[in-house]
Amino acid sequence: MSIDSLRQKPSWKALEQHHSEIGAVHLRELFAQDPDRGERLCAEGAGLYLDYSKNRVTDETMRLLCELARECGVEERRDAMFRGQHINVSEDRPALHVALRMPRGSSLVVDGADVVAQVHSVLDRMATFARRIRSGEWKGHSGKPIRNIVNVGIGGSDLGPVMAYEALRHYTRRDLTFRFVSNVDATDFVEATRDLSPEETLFIISSKTFGTLETLTNARSARDWVVGALGSEEAVARHFVAVSTHARRVAEFGIDTANMFEFWDWVGGRYSMDSAIGLSTMVAIGPEQFQDMLAGFHAMDEHFRTAPLEANLPGLMGLLAVWYAEFFGVQTIGVMPYEQYLKRFPAYLQQLTMESNGKHVTLGGTPVDYDTGPVYWGEPGTNGQHSFYQLIHQGTRLIPLDLIGFGKSLNPLGDHHDILSSNIFAQAEALAFGKTEREVRAEGTAPEVVPHRVMEGNRPTNVLLGEVLTPRLLGTLVSLYEHSVFTQGVIWDIDPFDQWGVELGKVLAARITPELTSDAERELTHDSSSNALIRRYRALKH
Ligand code: F6P
Repeated sequence: MSIDSLRQKPSWKALEQHHSEIGAVHLRELFAQDPDRGERLCAEGAGLYLDYSKNRVTDETMRLLCELARECGVEERRDAMFRGQHINVSEDRPALHVALRMPRGSSLVVDGADVVAQVHSVLDRMATFARRIRSGEWKGHSGKPIRNIVNVGIGGSDLGPVMAYEALRHYTRRDLTFRFVSNVDATDFVEATRDLSPEETLFIISSKTFGTLETLTNARSARDWVVGALGSEEAVARHFVAVSTHARRVAEFGIDTANMFEFWDWVGGRYSMDSAIGLSTMVAIGPEQFQDMLAGFHAMDEHFRTAPLEANLPGLMGLLAVWYAEFFGVQTIGVMPYEQYLKRFPAYLQQLTMESNGKHVTLGGTPVDYDTGPVYWGEPGTNGQHSFYQLIHQGTRLIPLDLIGFGKSLNPLGDHHDILSSNIFAQAEALAFGKTEREVRAEGTAPEVVPHRVMEGNRPTNVLLGEVLTPRLLGTLVSLYEHSVFTQGVIWDIDPFDQWGVELGKVLAARITPELTSDAERELTHDSSSNALIRRYRALKH
């Protein structure tokens, strides 16, 4: 790979020049000049169809973006990731989430170990456990079967399990209750458990490091809740299992490592929902459907690995994100699922995208002189349409959107689904083409109101369509975004697999906690603002 900084690369310079020529061209004009672009600027892979024709691009833009990707070594780095090379440079590890979904019988030897064999051995243990819970064979301390499963974790050890549970609710066992506790705010734990019977409740303590303060605090409260109700420390063995890479800490906490499901340091927290971190998902949907989800992930992995960039869904989406962030100064990208079951998908994506690409130095440690990861956010459409879409349509900021829809509903009811889906196409059309002054006047609008009703348009969208939301398609969708984030990270020459930025806050919180809990008027040595806030908190507390 060239050591030129990104801005010095010939393809970057060509893109700058190209942007000065076409950056201001309206999508109305692009469609007028090229009426068939809606059938050409699209790609398909692993059961997902992407229409990217309503982006502010031409064939030349896409050619130059693919050239940029090649010049930045996206394909080489992708292959290095799939080979298990240590592409997470700041932690000197592979980033090998793709191995979590490689089929049984395949093999990938990394640092001397066949990781696929390890993955399937844990999947088999998870399947046995999930079947025992689902069949009622696994009994609680007092002999009653488990009816409630509470996942305790935070960040990647929570967002994936919650999102997948909500997304796949249609496929879950409705006679089992699933809850998710993440926040160290006691309200989260108390509200999640208040109507549950400890005798019938199993906690899955999910933490890659088993050192995360929020999770350990919630886990200790869970243990007190169980032991207090059942009257014996022995109850822990029947009511707690752990998912972690850290056996010693699991044992120190008091969970038998026979009840621990392992994963590995080459799985990043935000890339872990298909590892043992997905245990609650597997209990909810069953091992067979969990396998289907893994097959969906793998299908998109294979598409990303083998399809040429010009037809590569994650590659194209990643390149479009770079195009807007760098050349249009775009700060945020919205992801709007038109599928109620995907209501937590945007929250899940926020960690995936922003913890990955919120970086300020290159792999070599040099400060970047360009923007990196944009802010990702979203809500299920059509709810968003009645709240913040106004700003997207007529505000002063450019916010590209991904609109996600399906051909079929899992809950067909009258004409709901067609009404829902018509909104996807209507929004994409309105955002792209807007409404001209002439059109507004032709409607007989009072002259003074005309400017308020004009819609400039030229707002870009990607539309993603699948047949129906299944475990398989969920895996495909998550993998699509994982690899889109990866593509962006390679272009920006950053490490999308570390997260040093979250550490300082943790260290400072650990220092401040005793200053809040201690009765003694400890001397405060922070800045004047922090000192004053702590004093005010102490006063309010008492
Ligand atoms: O917030 C930082 C972070 O390290 C995330 O990257 C991670 O997903 C989360 O904390 C939870 O970490 P763990 O699974 O080790 O408890």
